[in-house]
Amino acid sequence: MIKLLTVIGARPQIIKAAALSRALAARPEMEEKILHTGQHYDAEMSEVFFRELGIPAPDYNLGVGSGPHGVQTAKMTVGIEQVLQAEPFDGVVLYGDTNSTLAGAVAAAKLGVPVFHIEAGLRSFAMAMPEEQNRIVCDHLSSLLFAPTQTAVDNLRREGLCDSPAVFTGGRGRRVVLSGDVMYDNARYFAPLALSGCDILQRLQLEPGTFVLATIHRPVNTDSPERLSAIVAALLEIAEELAVVLPLHPRTRKLLERNLPPQLRAQLEAHPRVHLLPPVSFFEVIVLEQQARVVLTDSGGVQKEAFFYGTPTVILRRETEWVEIIESRAGVLADADAVAIVRAYEDLKDRSVAFPPLFGDAHAAERILDAIDAYLKEKC
Ligand code: UD1
Ligand code: UDP
Repeated sequence: MIKLLTVIGARPQIIKAAALSRALAARPEMEEKILHTGQHYDAEMSEVFFRELGIPAPDYNLGVGSGPHGVQTAKMTVGIEQVLQAEPFDGVVLYGDTNSTLAGAVAAAKLGVPVFHIEAGLRSFAMAMPEEQNRIVCDHLSSLLFAPTQTAVDNLRREGLCDSPAVFTGGRGRRVVLSGDVMYDNARYFAPLALSGCDILQRLQLEPGTFVLATIHRPVNTDSPERLSAIVAALLEIAEELAVVLPLHPRTRKLLERNLPPQLRAQLEAHPRVHLLPPVSFFEVIVLEQQARVVLTDSGGVQKEAFFYGTPTVILRRETEWVEIIESRAGVLADADAVAIVRAYEDLKDRSVAFPPLFGDAHAAERILDAIDAYLKEKC
């Protein structure tokens, strides 16, 4: 029996974990236990996904909650280390680049437990981003690196992580696997269920193609009054033409109050075509991403899902890890510049683009489990 500990904590990780848990159901020789750090804790940031996506309830919940990076990451590291000391695991599965990922990597690697990093090799080349720091540390501490795209493999090669002769954990070398993207697995699996069972458009009284979906949560945008104001100004301009659906991450809800000038905030809240919502469920966001005319986002996951569903995206950042979206002309980097955002929206809303399958074949989870199985059965 192979025993894996999956560490999750933030919304996108909970969603990604659904793909592996689903594939594990067909493998009685593998057992998964789930550890939720508690980084995200509001029902609509966590519990809703377990229910909607059929993810098993966590075996451990550290209840760490919010806090400064150091405090939050330290509490998680202590909690994960205690679990790994109390119960033997053959490997720790980590997703993405949050503080929960970093804590899992540090706790496991220092105890000599192999780290399996899903979504390895992504780089923004913006070292000030907390996520860039987290993903680089995690990749360098990992035994198996599951790259979603060829670009991610190339990034890992440049850092010397491919074909690494280094004997790392358990006497085995480090390995890079081009697995495809578990988010694409989920998009393909859940889209039919979402489209047949979710009434968000009826509730908002919106017709397909008559609105844009916007999400904002990166500190670089929410924490700067200038940048947040520029993005909101652009959304208000777009709202003169199409409805704007804006589900608010809790960070953003708080910072809109603190960082927007009162007049702009009043305009946003009162605009008849702006729908300010709490975070929506995964099925709801799938419908919104599919049926929007354009998506505007600083989220890594949302820009990619928009691509999966053939919706063009204005990326509210200077750079993206998912360069394939820009290269295929399905997305434009507009930063937090109001003029550039509106121009990109105008350009993309009628652009005819191809959306080639660049993120795998919707079987990344199976490929990941095969590789973990083979790795752990290797003789050291
Ligand atoms: C985190 C990740 C980010 C990821 C995002 C996904 C890090 C450093 N950042 O950012 O990479 O893109 O999750 O959503 O790990 N809050 C609540 N309720 C919650 C969760 C958060 O009110 O359930 C509020 C708190 O005020 C908190 C703030 O949101 O301080 C930020 O939460 P935090 O987990 O620190 O970072 P995110 O911005 O969510
Ligand atoms: N998401 C969701 N509800 C929302 C906004 C996003 O379910 O209101 C999902 C989205 O479909 C994607 C994931 O959350 O799968 C992305 O998470 P987020 O934008 O918080 O973080 P990032 O991907 O940037 O790390």
